[in-house]
Amino acid sequence: MLSKTIYQLLNDQVTAEQDAAYKYLQMAAWAEKEGLSGAAKFFRVHSQEEEGHRDRIFDYLNECGQEVVLGAIDAPKHDYDNLLEVIQAAYDHEKKVTGMIKRIAEASFAEQDYQTFNFIQWFVAEQHEEETLFMTVLDKARVLGYEGEKQGEALYLLDQYLANAHEEAGGDPE
Ligand code: FEO
Repeated sequence: MLSKTIYQLLNDQVTAEQDAAYKYLQMAAWAEKEGLSGAAKFFRVHSQEEEGHRDRIFDYLNECGQEVVLGAIDAPKHDYDNLLEVIQAAYDHEKKVTGMIKRIAEASFAEQDYQTFNFIQWFVAEQHEEETLFMTVLDKARVLGYEGEKQGEALYLLDQYLANAHEEAGGDPE
């Protein structure tokens, strides 16, 4: 049985992961519109990973005999100026999610709910990987000299890099 606080945090996280999936799907749509097929694939894959995160927490709550109650999700931003802005927005969003996961870890430890504390460790590792992934992409953009241009070689190379960035990063932790 989960405490009210832990239940609320986990339940909210189900919606937060769906919200992230929604945001990245919109980023994929933006990239498609711009003709950036590598970025479109990258964000599509990332959106699907977020759905996997949603399902992990959904399943855990069910296993704990708790009803999942989904919250509302705002329409995501879609009018980005350039790919750099999109990647920065994704990185900023991951940092926000890391804060939410940290709160669950802190609360479950404080309540001596070691079952949830153990469960959330996967997400702690995952957030580290995701922040590293987006930071690596930002580093790549800097090395290529890409500063938000709408066309050109640096954008082309960054788009190509993004096509396989998830495979290179190794995907979700086991
Ligand atoms: Fe599920 Fe990217 O955090």
